[in-house]
Formats: sequence, structure tokens, C-alpha cells
Amino acid sequence: MKPIIAPSILSADFANLAKDIEMINNSEADWFHVDVMDGVFVPNISFGFPVISAIHKHAKKPLDVHLMIADADKYLQKFAEVGAHNLTVHIEACTHLHRTIQGIKSLGMKAGVAINPHASVSLLENVIADLDVVLIMSVNPGFGGQKFIENTYTKIGALKELILQKNSKALIEIDGGVDLKNASKLIQAGADALVAGNTVFNSENPTQTISLLKAAGTV
Ligand code: DX5
Ligand code: ZN
Repeated sequence: MKPIIAPSILSADFANLAKDIEMINNSEADWFHVDVMDGVFVPNISFGFPVISAIHKHAKKPLDVHLMIADADKYLQKFAEVGAHNLTVHIEACTHLHRTIQGIKSLGMKAGVAINPHASVSLLENVIADLDVVLIMSVNPGFGGQKFIENTYTKIGALKELILQKNSKALIEIDGGVDLKNASKLIQAGADALVAGNTVFNSENPTQTISLLKAAGTV
């Protein structure tokens, strides 16, 4: 099966967002990956609701919103209002994760949980059956353009096993350092969705790069 490709807006040209959104609309990409950073949970600040609303207005594909923020519960409703289709929170940032997941679903969004490179997938054992997406961070969150962490492959295998064991429908999404070299190996290991920022937006032909990522796994 062809992977879901989610170009990360974090690497787009913020002074020409409409142009980059159009490029994604007209490409083989499936989702818009939208990174929200608060300068508390991660050492960087990205953008907030007005920008997400603007993206949503032009985007013809679902918004895959990745929250790297300390207090997600406070803003779930607001993210639903600005057009989030998938809403992913970090396990490390949510004290009452079960409640947060139910909150996301009750607002009509798909629920995702992200785990940092140090965290074991076994931490998801008790919520995996409720999840639509598990996002494995393959870099430490906060910045685009970082180096891919090789241990990710082992984690994909463990997660796949957990998903099967618990009869979960969760998709496995990989975020950070995805490129044209590791994409096929990630798909073969069991990844369903690939996020790519730097690889897409710093390439000479982003539309073609998206197509090459989409073809990963079939080659
Ligand atoms: C990092 C973000 C990623 C980032 C990926 O914290 O979650 O989505 O945009 O960027 P690349 O693909 O450049 O590693
Ligand atoms: Zn992300």
C-alpha cells in the first residue's frame, strides 16, 4: 500500500504560504502536517490559531495537527474550530492522557498520540485501541531539518506488534528526518504515514519529491 505523505508546513515559506499550500493541493500529498510549538514543552515557538485558520481556508486536504504544547486540554475545542482533522498530543505532555484522547474524539477529530525518541511504545498499551494515529518522533521535537534517529525502526516493529495484539486501527506516522533514502525502509518496517519538512521544501522540485516519497515502499 502507498504511504500517506504529510508535508510539514514548518519548512514552508511563511511569506508565501498560499503558494506552498497550492503546491501541496496539486501534489500527491495526503495531509498537511501542522506543527504547533509553545516554547514550553519544546524549545521553539512556531505559530498559532490565525495561521492554522488561514491554512485551512486554502487547504484541500486534511490538516494533521501535531501539538508540541504543555497544556493541550485547554485548547482542544479551538483546534477543532480552526479545522484540525487529526489532533495529535504528546504522551510526555499529558497527565490525563485518556481524558485528552476522549476529549479530542468527542469534538469530532481523529485522535493521535506522539511519543518522543526516549519513550517506549509499551506506554501506549492502555490507550492504543482508542487511537487513530500514533506518531513516532524520529528526532527530538522542536525543529525541522534534524538527523533521523535509527532506533526508530525498532520502535515501529514494537508498535506494529502492539497494534495487532490490541486489535487497534491506529496508523503509524513517522516524524523527523524522513528523506528519500530512509522512506522505503520505514514503509517496509510498518509505517503508514510519513511527515517530511526539509526533504520536501528544500528540494529543487517539491511536487516531484512528494511523488517520490509516495512511491516509497513500492520500489
Ligand atoms: C519537529 C516537527 C516535525 C518537523 C519535521 O518537531 O514535529 O514535523 O517539521 O521536519 P523534518 O522533516 O525537516 O525533520
Ligand atoms: Zn511534527
